[in-house]
Amino acid sequence: MDINDFKSEIIIESPGRINLIGEHIDYNGGHVLPAAIDKKITLKFRKNNSKLCQIYSKNFKSSFTIDLHKLERSAVEWQNFVLGVLYHINNIRPESIDGFNCIIESNLPLGSGISSSAALECGIAKGVNELFKIGLTDIQIIKLSRDAEHTFVGTKCGIMDQFAVVKGQKDHLLLLNCETLNYELIKADFNPYIIVLLNTNVSHNLASSEYNVRRDECQTALEAIQKKYPKYRHLTEVPVSVVKEFKGVLPQKIYNRALYVSQENKRTLKAVKKLKKNNLVEFGELIYKSHEGLQNLYEVSCNEMDFLVKQTKKMDYVLGSRMMGGGFGGCTINLVHRDKVNEFIEYISASYEEKFNIQLTSILTTIGDGTKKVS
Ligand code: GLA
Repeated sequence: MDINDFKSEIIIESPGRINLIGEHIDYNGGHVLPAAIDKKITLKFRKNNSKLCQIYSKNFKSSFTIDLHKLERSAVEWQNFVLGVLYHINNIRPESIDGFNCIIESNLPLGSGISSSAALECGIAKGVNELFKIGLTDIQIIKLSRDAEHTFVGTKCGIMDQFAVVKGQKDHLLLLNCETLNYELIKADFNPYIIVLLNTNVSHNLASSEYNVRRDECQTALEAIQKKYPKYRHLTEVPVSVVKEFKGVLPQKIYNRALYVSQENKRTLKAVKKLKKNNLVEFGELIYKSHEGLQNLYEVSCNEMDFLVKQTKKMDYVLGSRMMGGGFGGCTINLVHRDKVNEFIEYISASYEEKFNIQLTSILTTIGDGTKKVS
């Protein structure tokens, strides 16, 4: 494949995502508030009239070849996002994919909790769908991309990332009900505050294993609660008062997970009400509360993220701050007064470097459209 003179038939742009509130809620059947962002992966496709696919990553400066008759897991992690998607498309529509060449270029930092993985999966799925006119719906693309992550990558993720990446709309948040997949578009107007992501540039290797452990712990809590209250189908449906009946009954850790999930789902719905009333101060307070829960009850934060969130508490120009995404590293999301952004980044970068001897990356984002064909 000629990388410098590649004549693409189709170009897809596939964004990362942020999540304002509702963390670790998607796989518990509740409400989340994500959005697609302006940072994205660009994927160029061209058919090659064979049964082989050649995929080249400009960022990794490496390529690999896929035999469509042998869609198996690879030892190289990023390749699995591509392989998994092709495998699942092939499951739904056998023989619908033929050979193609694809060049991938990304301005999404990896492992930073803004879902470069979902961006890649959904970008591949949408591109292949267009290239071979397979006719998959957005919901099929969202679900099969999630399934790719389960079977090929091994993270039992929920549906939020893929949903936000595909369905995102410029300047809007998605209030997504993860059980029904119904969603409401909420105008994202934080003026005069803007969204600043602070990338800790750490990615603790607990991320994937502990993620799956949290899922199991939630399932354990739900099954115990269902013995007394069979009517609850998801942990997010269980009211906080009912969870509290299980204090001392459930092991402390399991109890804490359930309490967090029930509180966070409620918090998300409350946050949307505040946002609709333009009550940004209380919206920000709920973001801080979400972090407290993730840190102390759900235990998916880390020292680096806790430090960053704590630093912002003394700044009256920051509305809210919390860890974002799966946890154990990656980014915090912050709502910062636009006139103070430079001061904010300068101060917090210096104190972070002094404390951890690591350089922070700040990412100013706006809310953009979901995965789309641009040519
Ligand atoms: C990861 C997963 C999502 C979601 C978040 C936590 O990003 O991929 O499904 O569970 O963590 O909210």
